[in-house]
Amino acid sequence: MKKPGSASNPLWFKDAILYELHVRAFADSNADGIGDFTGLLGKLDYLQELGVTCLWLLPFFPSPLRDDGYDIADYKDVHPSYGTLDDFQRFLNAAHQRGMQVLIELVMNHTSDQHPWFQRARNAPAGSPERNFYIWSESKERFAGVPIIFNDTESSNWAWDPAAGAYYWHRFFSHQPDLNYDNPFVLDEMLDAMRFWLDRGVDGLRLDAIPYLVERDGTRCENLPETHAIIRTVRTVIDAEYSNRFLLAEANQWPSDVRPYFGENDECNMAFHFPLMPRMYVAVRQEDRLPIVDIMQQTPAIPDTCQWGLFLRNHDELTLEMVTRDERDYMYLAYSSDPRTRINLGIRRRLAPLLDNNRDRIELLNSLLFSFPGTPILYYGDEIGMGDNLDLGDRNGVRTPMQWNSTSNGGFSTAAPSSLYAPVISDPVYGYQAVNVEEQRKNPSSLLQWVRNMIGLRKLFAVFGRGTLRFLNPANRKVIAYVRQLGDESVLCVANLSRFAQPVALDLAEFDGRTPMEVFGYSAFPLITAQPYSLSLAPYSFLWFELQAAIAADAPGPADAEQRPQPNTQRVLATNPSPESSPATASPSHPAVEVHDAVAAKSVLLHAIPATPQELRQLISSLSQSLVESSSGLGITLAFPLRDGESNAPAIDAELNHASSNLLLAPYRASAALRQSWPYPASGYAELARLAAQHNARAVVQLGRSPTLSSATAQISPLPDTTSTATRAC
Ligand code: NOJ
Ligand code: CA
Repeated sequence: MKKPGSASNPLWFKDAILYELHVRAFADSNADGIGDFTGLLGKLDYLQELGVTCLWLLPFFPSPLRDDGYDIADYKDVHPSYGTLDDFQRFLNAAHQRGMQVLIELVMNHTSDQHPWFQRARNAPAGSPERNFYIWSESKERFAGVPIIFNDTESSNWAWDPAAGAYYWHRFFSHQPDLNYDNPFVLDEMLDAMRFWLDRGVDGLRLDAIPYLVERDGTRCENLPETHAIIRTVRTVIDAEYSNRFLLAEANQWPSDVRPYFGENDECNMAFHFPLMPRMYVAVRQEDRLPIVDIMQQTPAIPDTCQWGLFLRNHDELTLEMVTRDERDYMYLAYSSDPRTRINLGIRRRLAPLLDNNRDRIELLNSLLFSFPGTPILYYGDEIGMGDNLDLGDRNGVRTPMQWNSTSNGGFSTAAPSSLYAPVISDPVYGYQAVNVEEQRKNPSSLLQWVRNMIGLRKLFAVFGRGTLRFLNPANRKVIAYVRQLGDESVLCVANLSRFAQPVALDLAEFDGRTPMEVFGYSAFPLITAQPYSLSLAPYSFLWFELQAAIAADAPGPADAEQRPQPNTQRVLATNPSPESSPATASPSHPAVEVHDAVAAKSVLLHAIPATPQELRQLISSLSQSLVESSSGLGITLAFPLRDGESNAPAIDAELNHASSNLLLAPYRASAALRQSWPYPASGYAELARLAAQHNARAVVQLGRSPTLSSATAQISPLPDTTSTATRAC
């Protein structure tokens, strides 16, 4: 019997929004200056409200922390600074209850030199299985020519161990000896470690430094067939013993070398697209789409069940290993004028400072991240535009505490500032006094609100996670235009990479007769014809259009587009609801629904699919109660499908329904599209939009299949002109 995962769909990771964070950096619950699992648990509301669906945790295992935890001393425990295994489990369960998945690290390539396996190996007789957990040599000449990755710190991939009287092999820091996968006991141990966490319920494993597992004389010791064989074994074990989990390959390689890490869907389910990332930055600085188009054209197709992991920044330097020498020089010139920002073959900066804190450029790059084929991965703090601290060594400058508010330590910890694991950013531009979550939650035009809406919007279109990509080829190379397609859903994305306004004429003849519906405001643009389609783009702006099929035979042409009936004119935002239900916990101090904008107050449609009449009653009761208690003036229409055989709404006693006059019940007859689970096909969203329009609602919130307020993950995005709307369900 396979152990189920928390997600219900085996390909859930293709629709996910990943959020990368370090437990240490997120929130400190016990005032020791170090973030911990209890602190993180307390921030799940925030993450849920942001809309991310999968948390990627950087290493949290016992470790001397000389590589921020990638130097593991025990694979089956939690570093005491971050809490206990029980704390981890509480966090994991709470994340799952909210419908979020959790990805953790499986560092297979190396351990800390403090790991008992290494200590045992040094003192074991040469040639023994214990000694052979690692790779030894009498001379440093073995594997000559293999590149040194941390070339700022290390001068060789061999380090001398006096106890063993031999050199040991390390691809990273010298305190991180590489494990020896020619010794079958090593893989056994690693599979054990993997099962330890999968049994606890983690949903995915990031395979750190995966190309370097096996070494062979006369090669670069990267991407060897023997390494792929090891990964296939790992995947076979997962597939045999667990369901709905995934493996993410960290292979910083060219696309053609990464492709084998997917295998025939018998290795990793996902791999980072390392070469795309720097080219997005090059394209924006050169105001030319070519670097992006070029690398995507070099990217081989992957199995349908696999996925690319896309990112703009992460916890490491912005690596420039996968660019040409010219491109690297260009990147240094354009993005790294201060030599302190350079490290190894990369640039140690966060997103906002890299882009000179230019909001338009930050949004533009995010628009590429969210619309390219793959799963977007956000790095904690980048959603509020956090800065970095170049005075901290190594990559620590981009790993500073999360900035929650303007109180001391940015609300990260109540410890004395001198006891924090790293100082909070406090410069005038990026300091916690100016850049923090609390301020940005209040400010409807903040970067945080923008990112949140972007996430909500992206979730509406399965095509982004699953569809194909095709570039258009307009003459103006400062504009990048591409079509994403999945079944009959087509989305056209157009972005201006230039700091000046640009015209563009697109050949859209194949979509002749369709209406481009701009998805951020749901405005219909002029009908597409066989003629070139002209657009003007403001500096760094981007437009996404749903290419909707013609809605009526007599629909007028572009000249009177405004009078035409507009299909799907209601924007509907929905998130994947929690599969589990738990009792509603609304109370005045913890309102189930918060409304910050009176305009939206009468305008929310909750859509729910209760499994039983009892569930429906419970939901109505908790909604009524929270509406009465909130006295916010909020009006809610609760839409739910009639059950088979019912011709009317189930009998809900008047007392319950009228407990709050602001609650309107709206039973409806659901089509097949709304009977299946989320994400719905486009017709499902159209149906929700019709319901919303019928009830004069300005936004729709999707609750889960066994819905309660506490389990709902709600996203209501501001509709056009109401950017101050912000509503959430807790
Ligand atoms: C890749 C990780 O992202 C990086 O932070 C770490 O230093 C190396 N692997 C070594 O584990
Ligand atoms: Ca702590």
